[in-house]
Amino acid sequence: MSAYQTEYQWALNEPEQFWKAQSEKIDWFTAPKTTLQPDENGIERWFPDGELNTCWLALDYHCANGRGDKTALIYDSPVTKTKQQYTYKELKQRVAQIAGMLVEQGVGMGDRVVIYMPMIPEAAMAMLACARIGAIHSVVFGGFAPNELAVRIEDAEPKVIMTASCGIEINKVIPYKPLVDKAVMDSRWKPEQVVVLQRPECKADLNQSKDLDWHSAVQQAQPHDCVPVRSTHPLYILYTSGTTGKPKGVVRDNGGHAVAMKYSMGTIYNMPQDGVFWAASDVGWVVGHSYIVYAPLIHGCATVLFEGKPVRTPDPGAFWRVCEEYKVDVLFSAPTAFRAIKKEDPEGELLSDYNLSTLKTIFMAGERLDPPTLEWVESKTDKPVVDHWWQTETGWAIASNPTGLELMPIKAGSATKPVPGYQVEILDELGEAAQPNRQGFVAIKRPLPPGCLPTVWRNHDRFESGYLTQFPGYYVSGDGGYLDEDGYLFIMGRIDDVINVAGHRLSTGEMEEIVGGHPAIAECAVVGVHDDLKGQLPLGLVVLKDGVKVDDIELEGELVGKVREQIGAVACFKHALVVERLPKTRSGKILRKTIRQIADGEQYTVPSTIDDPTSLGEIERVLNES
Ligand code: COA
Ligand code: AMP
Repeated sequence: MSAYQTEYQWALNEPEQFWKAQSEKIDWFTAPKTTLQPDENGIERWFPDGELNTCWLALDYHCANGRGDKTALIYDSPVTKTKQQYTYKELKQRVAQIAGMLVEQGVGMGDRVVIYMPMIPEAAMAMLACARIGAIHSVVFGGFAPNELAVRIEDAEPKVIMTASCGIEINKVIPYKPLVDKAVMDSRWKPEQVVVLQRPECKADLNQSKDLDWHSAVQQAQPHDCVPVRSTHPLYILYTSGTTGKPKGVVRDNGGHAVAMKYSMGTIYNMPQDGVFWAASDVGWVVGHSYIVYAPLIHGCATVLFEGKPVRTPDPGAFWRVCEEYKVDVLFSAPTAFRAIKKEDPEGELLSDYNLSTLKTIFMAGERLDPPTLEWVESKTDKPVVDHWWQTETGWAIASNPTGLELMPIKAGSATKPVPGYQVEILDELGEAAQPNRQGFVAIKRPLPPGCLPTVWRNHDRFESGYLTQFPGYYVSGDGGYLDEDGYLFIMGRIDDVINVAGHRLSTGEMEEIVGGHPAIAECAVVGVHDDLKGQLPLGLVVLKDGVKVDDIELEGELVGKVREQIGAVACFKHALVVERLPKTRSGKILRKTIRQIADGEQYTVPSTIDDPTSLGEIERVLNES
């Protein structure tokens, strides 16, 4: 048997022994005696009687083991022309001080802290400071509009919000404080304090009684030690788009997460302890949580935190420059980032300016790695390019090429094989296992391995109904796909109302709620259509109320503005077309999949359940004219 098969079979046949062995690789305060046990909801929980602290594992543990002077965090910010490095010792000192500040503000075990920050070291420090004192952080991506922030504040009920005065995008400074103020004003839940880090590019007005200047509050605080927490205690809540307007608060526990993070660094990424890991993502997404902050630090690596873009900061050589400058071992980003580089430097000419000899592997996730992008990156860099599939819900890869065990032959379009610990099956509508090469629901047999969500924050019913009830005994991923005859997994896309725009997960259902709220609109459909750069882009089709007369272009502008204002610029909602009617089934269900196929110019079959087949011709006509 190959190294992968041996490991996979062990995890399959003896999951408790397998994960117990992995759990012994992290430093518990109280080692768990129980490996797996159902909780009060019947959900399997890992290491329930263990005690640990995730910040200890990420920082103090390394300092206590003579590694305090090693580099922990490398901050590289082309948008502010700043470069800074922190050793483990320095990072620990700063985090302990921020933890002390939070405690002085009354934050304790289990309290929530919302973090709405740009890609600066203090964002990672804030997360680690929460972990240090057993507080639960909820990071909100800086590209989200106040409405999205307000929804998360209302659900998480944070005691404190931590923010910065601004974020910096290509050629523009975005003041954050007015966005936070608006979110707090709109939310029914009011935090006790808003701690604001002043950045020189734009100072915020701190004129409300709630506001606290980050630097002075932290300077005055006493450093705080790590407190032991139960393995099942939540480390963070990360909201992600579901099929409705209300995002789901994915809960991550401390113990299972730490074990999974550690395991993944060796098995999936083949990272040496002192290596340099770069996840070119954002701390607001799960990739940022797991692979900018927690996993590289728990593993003892240096992690790169990059405040820039793959292009225009200042050019499409930015990724290669960072890889050379910091001797990056593993680079991880979304395919869209490489498509952006390819668009601006099609021949990869800038690559020859840099020495990429330390770079071993490039990993991609967030959306399907399309074969042309795979081929381009492979041929230009001459490095293995590994597609791996995962979700906010799991926190780490479900399927990957397990490079720490062996580099398997790469098949374009496939995320390779299930990672040991995950039992991936393709199920048909009846829950029966599909034949090889037949598409179906991609499901994971329970128990899910450590690190995966045990519930949705304060809404366990949503966890059950959204993921567990469709096929008893399985977690349903929301993705469609197939396993080929060699057991390679091909993820073909979401089968629900979630789309991926430039690697950002968004809900078309939420966009429909916003668009449908316009007074001129009777009904609408938003679908994700193919885009060469961003993978998918949302497209709105709207039906006007009877008798309403509007200028189509003006209406489109209003709808685009509404989505931008309520979700944020990242939604990239730029087109809304007026149609006479939407294609529906006889029971009134909008045929979104068929609309998307028409928009993408794909072959489609007219569904037998369609109410009025001529409605499809209408969609084709409007799309052709647009
Ligand atoms: N704060 C505020 N605004 C933000 C933001 C942030 N953190 N991130 C993005 N935005 C804004 C952008 O400024 C842009 O605004 P505009 O419409 O006014 O120009 C809009 O949101 C769309 O941003 P984006 O989709 O990022 O487009 P882009 O053209 O700026 O960049 C890419 C395109 C491909 C370079 C970029 O999307 C990218 O690097 N993607 C990688 C995605 C990623 O890391 N995903 C995580 C999963 S691994
Ligand atoms: P997120 O929760 O933001 O990480 O988004 C998860 C979703 O992104 C998945 O359910 C997939 O639809 C998609 N996705 C992530 N990685 C991949 C991949 N490697 N291949 C195909 N789709 C992916």
